[in-house]
Amino acid sequence: MIQKAFKWLMQPLGLAAVLIVALAVFSLVVWGIAQTQKPPEQPVPQFPHQLHVSFGVQCLYCHPGAVRGPSPGLPTVSKCWGCHQQIAKTQTSVKLAPLKAAHDSGTPLQWVPVAQVPDFVQFNHRPHVAAGLNCENCHGDLSKVDIYENPQVMNMGWCLACHKEKSAGNPELYIKLTDCGTCHY
Ligand code: HEC
Ligand code: HEC
Ligand code: HEC
Ligand code: HEC
Ligand code: HEC
Repeated sequence: MIQKAFKWLMQPLGLAAVLIVALAVFSLVVWGIAQTQKPPEQPVPQFPHQLHVSFGVQCLYCHPGAVRGPSPGLPTVSKCWGCHQQIAKTQTSVKLAPLKAAHDSGTPLQWVPVAQVPDFVQFNHRPHVAAGLNCENCHGDLSKVDIYENPQVMNMGWCLACHKEKSAGNPELYIKLTDCGTCHY
């Protein structure tokens, strides 16, 4: 039975079938990877970072935790509403309809986190901001994008590349910043 199937597969028609199946599997895999790379749908899908940053609204106004502790946080409805209740467009804009609906019904906006490292990694914003790094160094220029996307993968190689660069010429700091226990404990 197996031998018979094998013989059939080795014929031109069989080989063509194998090729078609292989191509189909390949394109499915590529499509699957593309799906995981796509930014997720956000509750206000047209929230424009670019526009707010261009008005001079500070990153820390909406993400205050970045200097206070590990996690910058994402803004709540009331933070958005503080400005938007005074803006006439809020009543009519299609882009603002999800915000208005969330406010009117008292439901929170469930932003989907995009900049994230796994739980077994210790990342704290504070020492990075204290060391003089800017948000752009890790998150790219938010005055040029609307909905956030990571400008690079946030993996171990990325952390270590910068830690090595920043501690070159300082052996003590190099040891600290490349020690497994600094990021995993
Ligand atoms: C008016 C409020 C506001 C301002 C100002 C603002 N952001 Fe945001 N930020 C948001 C909202 C809302 C989201 C969630 C939607 C999204 O991912 O784009 C977000 C998401 C992000 C994320 C992705 C977080 C995640 O994991 O989902 C990063 C990183 C970020 N902002 C950085 C910045 C930086 C850097 C600045 C300053 C240049 C800035 N933001 C200014 C409101 C703001
Ligand atoms: C510091 C004040 C301020 C805060 C805080 C703020 N916005 Fe805005 N936002 C504005 C202004 C001003 C505009 C421009 C309105 C206009 O074009 O008339 C705007 C525009 C927008 C628009 C585009 C509307 C359109 O039709 O073009 C969206 C969407 C939006 N904001 C969502 C949000 C969300 C969601 C939050 C909370 C995460 C937020 N904003 C926080 C001031 C603010
Ligand atoms: C050294 C690189 C680095 C710098 C500098 C940096 N971030 Fe982050 N940011 C990260 C990493 C890594 C994460 C994922 C953290 C996690 O999963 O706990 C993150 C997560 C975030 C998030 C996701 C929301 C949350 O609470 O987890 C926001 C918003 C954010 N950063 C905003 C900022 C802002 C604003 C600044 C500037 C004040 C900034 N970041 C500076 C690396 C950085
Ligand atoms: C763009 C450069 C850069 C990137 C990217 C970066 N770091 Fe850092 N990190 C620094 C600098 C600079 C310091 C502060 C060094 C000092 O103490 O002067 C630091 C400090 C730290 C500390 C505190 C060390 C201590 O005990 O004081 C931890 C933990 C850390 N980083 C984890 C991470 C992790 C995890 C990532 C990746 C998710 C990461 N960092 C990505 C530059 C970076
Ligand atoms: C500067 C921070 C940093 C240091 C130092 C560091 N790691 Fe990591 N590590 C990370 C981050 C971020 C991830 C999660 C992202 C990824 O999988 O690359 C990770 C993931 C891992 C994983 C899981 C890999 C996987 O594929 O899921 C292992 C195992 C690991 N690290 C071991 C180590 C060991 C051993 C050391 C010391 C030689 C070390 N790490 C030092 C940041 C760090």
